[in-house]
Amino acid sequence: MKTLVDMGSPVGAWLSNELDSVSSILSDHLKNKHHEVNDLCNELATYRGKMLRPSLLLLSWRALHPAGHIPNSVRIAAGVVELIHLATLVHDDVLDEADLRRGKQTINSLRGNEAAVMLGDYLLSSAFLLCSTIKNPELNILLGKITNTLCAGEVVQLANRNNVGLTLEQYYQIIHDKTASLIAACCEMGGVLGNGNTEQLKTLRKFGEGVGTAFQIKDDLLDLLERQEDIGKPAGRDLEKGKLTLPIILLLTTNPSLKNGVEEIVANNDRCALRQLVDSSKSVEAAVQKVNSLVEEAVGGLSVVFSNEVSSQMCLMVEQLKV
Ligand code: FPP
Ligand code: MG
Repeated sequence: MKTLVDMGSPVGAWLSNELDSVSSILSDHLKNKHHEVNDLCNELATYRGKMLRPSLLLLSWRALHPAGHIPNSVRIAAGVVELIHLATLVHDDVLDEADLRRGKQTINSLRGNEAAVMLGDYLLSSAFLLCSTIKNPELNILLGKITNTLCAGEVVQLANRNNVGLTLEQYYQIIHDKTASLIAACCEMGGVLGNGNTEQLKTLRKFGEGVGTAFQIKDDLLDLLERQEDIGKPAGRDLEKGKLTLPIILLLTTNPSLKNGVEEIVANNDRCALRQLVDSSKSVEAAVQKVNSLVEEAVGGLSVVFSNEVSSQMCLMVEQLKV
């Protein structure tokens, strides 16, 4: 399959091959004796993207063994993290009442909320079942902690809908929990399976955390600034759902007197007024800067501990996140 790493490079060719194996593991594992379950799982095709999370897991392992033979457990773990990711997307679209993802209809819009909730649950339980076949308790515990953190992140986000008093610290905690924690765990799992030492595991986790945070800030920026046609999913949904994101929080931190105005904008779901407000400030530029500096820090941190062709390709891959 097409990868986020240059396909002309040996690392890209290796990754492409491995991702094909991961996809086969996933499809086989999801097969069920009930055709109703298989029918529902077939709807997932549109949710399958570039496999960022499995790629990071595979590459993190590979950075420790650039010429080694890959054990099947690494491919299985890559399948596990993709299943978790798919489960969160299916549930997230229910929470966000989103009807489009990657330009196609979401599961909830095709089959209704009940089927989407059950599909997310099926994916989640399939992930745990698949992970247990690796028979590595460290991975099972990591997976349990991460899914717990993901759910907590969403609960805190939900509790803070329409809260114009949301602090920068709270925002970073939410995006860490709902997005960066899984991406960090992917890197760490690759490291654990590669028998990395404490410093290598910490470096991989930190790299994933930085990348994951940058990824979510960028996703939030696209929701604020772009059009549905360009991002393949509804734009402006954060405002509609009362989710405050970085440019608005930065704006309110420097201009607390705008709080009442923003409260009204959120209550009226007035996207136009919100755009005018952020456009008149430097807060979008500041958020863009944050994405870029997080990517640079992540790349810098990884390069201190890893220096081979694989880690270089990991850096090039995440640099594509820069705005
Ligand atoms: C995307 O946010 C949402 C997430 C990354 C996390 C979603 C997590 C849950 C719904 C908790 C359920 C957890 C499990 C383990 C099943 P977004 O709405 O900003 O992104 P989007 O623009 O892609 O929709
Ligand atoms: Mg969403």
